[in-house]
Amino acid sequence: MATTFAHTLDLHIRARYPLLYVATAEEDRVEAVIRAVAERLQPARAVQEWDVVRGYPGLGTAKGLPLPALDVIDSGVGDTPSIFVLRDFHPFLRDHQVARQVRNLARTLRTRRQTVVFVSPVVEVPPTLLDDITILDFPLPRYGEIEQHLGTLLQGLAQRLEPATLEVLTKACQGMSLTRLEQVVQMSLAERGTLDESIIDRVLEEKRQAVRRTGVLEFINSDDDLDDIGGLHGLKSWLERRALAFSERARRYGLPNPKGLLLVGIQGTGKSLSAKATAQLLRVPLLRLDVGRLMGSLVGESESRVREMIAVAEAMAPTVLWIDEIDKGFRGVGSSFVGDSGTSARVFGTLITWMQEKTSPVFVVATANNIDVLPPELLRKGRFDEIFFIDLPNDAERREILEVHLAKRREHRLREFDVAALAERSAGYSGAELEQAVIDAMYLGFEARREFETADVAACLAESVPLSRTKAPDIDALRRWAAEGKARLATG
Ligand SMILES: Nc1ncnc2c1ncn2[C@@H]1O[C@H](COP(=O)(O)OP(=O)(O)O)[C@@H](O)[C@H]1O
Ligand SMILES: [Mg+2]
Repeated sequence: MATTFAHTLDLHIRARYPLLYVATAEEDRVEAVIRAVAERLQPARAVQEWDVVRGYPGLGTAKGLPLPALDVIDSGVGDTPSIFVLRDFHPFLRDHQVARQVRNLARTLRTRRQTVVFVSPVVEVPPTLLDDITILDFPLPRYGEIEQHLGTLLQGLAQRLEPATLEVLTKACQGMSLTRLEQVVQMSLAERGTLDESIIDRVLEEKRQAVRRTGVLEFINSDDDLDDIGGLHGLKSWLERRALAFSERARRYGLPNPKGLLLVGIQGTGKSLSAKATAQLLRVPLLRLDVGRLMGSLVGESESRVREMIAVAEAMAPTVLWIDEIDKGFRGVGSSFVGDSGTSARVFGTLITWMQEKTSPVFVVATANNIDVLPPELLRKGRFDEIFFIDLPNDAERREILEVHLAKRREHRLREFDVAALAERSAGYSGAELEQAVIDAMYLGFEARREFETADVAACLAESVPLSRTKAPDIDALRRWAAEGKARLATG
């Protein structure tokens, strides 16, 4: 939040961090905060802004060239207490000489009351500079700021909105930059000639696009709820309790927002299903993060992406952020990782730090098939509220799962099926495999132009080989891990 950002910035400046980096497209807003902080410092700091086209207007120098821009700081202005804001400097940091001069500055500035702040729309810091440059996150505007900004904007345009509309609009705008907000207002006005409540839909559409633009987040539409899950009673009752804590009422009571949970289990045991049901239970949108894609982005770019992803997810709050198959994306991160100069480790670090520290109502549901490839830091206390192991369904659970899937397709004939007998014959089958047997049985009945029956499901079960037969060692390993007290049993 803006006050917190000002506070963080102030602290870093006073602690003589020489080089700061703020990633935001909102230059105006961040520079206003920098100037305000500079003024309040003792002694006050002069603010010099540089960009490649204008150089330093305040000093009349260093147009067009990045190296002279740094030389000015290094030698030109002596000891005047200053903050140098370098806009869009990131492409220059790739240059060897520039990078070297930046590192020289890191040393000289420590003894002076001078700070360099890089302001760029993206985080692109070469690995060699990461120890010298501190990246600060510039948060999106808060309710009060949006309200104020909208007020000024509407006044300037001689437009009025009903107070109720204005309130809904302000809420809808949370998670948008002020720049984007201005664009939306202008667009609406250009289109309709006057502002009315249709602007709210436009804002919501804009946010949906923001999700798409990340390239790694996707809205998932699903109406699966807890009743669609057979078994897993421990997990379900835990979720029901947490759902209560995910409310405004719980906030007022002083409870923190729940952080989220990690679901571990072999394929087909209902992890993805549980993620979807969680969003239904909390009545919030479900955002799925494609970790493979996040990690697959170009080196450097994935670091920007993870920050952008976090900002967008927070902007959509309250929401469920579903990190599917987190083990695939972060396989072995933290151990000897070769080939990408630590990008994966940093992306992972950014993500888990956020998970640990976040206070916003973003409920994370991460799923994993395998734990021994997961970085141990992920499993440490504080990242998740709980870690659940989803085992293969036991007898009673198989009965419930079969009932769920039979009822979905033949509600009226459910009693005709001998679910207990089928459950008995299907030890070792996962929920997905039980569902598949029901579907296969329907094919049999359909081909024979009759209704399908218990015998058909039994035949299909007998014909298929459950994954658990070949995966037995994996399952045993997971069971041992859970039995060591590392995870709670979802069965309950
Ligand atoms: N416990 C369960 N109850 C009901 N259906 C289940 C269960 N587990 C799995 N399924 C069925 O199998 C499908 C695939 O399961 P999924 O949740 O994708 O497994 P995972 O993500 O663990 O690999 C689900 O959409 C659901 O139809
Ligand atoms: Mg899955």
